[in-house]
Amino acid sequence: MQQVIYNLVENAVKFVNEGGKISFAFEKNSDRICSFAIRNSGEGLKNEEIQRVFDRFYKTDESRGKDKTGLGLGLSISRKIVHLHHGHIVVKSVYGEYTEFSVQIPFDASKEK
Ligand SMILES: Nc1ncnc2c1ncn2[C@@H]1O[C@H](COP(=O)(O)OP(=O)(O)O)[C@@H](O)[C@H]1O
Ligand SMILES: [Mg+2]
Repeated sequence: MQQVIYNLVENAVKFVNEGGKISFAFEKNSDRICSFAIRNSGEGLKNEEIQRVFDRFYKTDESRGKDKTGLGLGLSISRKIVHLHHGHIVVKSVYGEYTEFSVQIPFDASKEK
């Protein structure tokens, strides 16, 4: 999970607009699910990009100008890790405003004690 959070925060830092805002929310929804979300203001994603951001090696045209080193693997690996934990990861974005990734992970609270 540390790798997932690292990937999402790294993306938020890479793709936030100048003078923009990054926010992080963590919530223990119940005894069985914990969730967190990372949001950054900025260009946001178009609908067709939203469908593809988790694909291996996918990068939006916009991102190629901002970040020349990333290979487009972080989100695909992050989704794999989340699924191995039986969780969900979703992206929500308003074009021209923000992008937010949220993760939900189920856990068994009885095993915590
Ligand atoms: N927070 C974000 N804001 C805008 N676009 C994003 C964001 N996170 C990911 N993307 C888009 O999804 C693509 C894939 O992300 P990722 O798999 O982490 O690859 P990388 O970081 O190597 O480019 C990015 O290149 C970018 O186009
Ligand atoms: Mg990345």
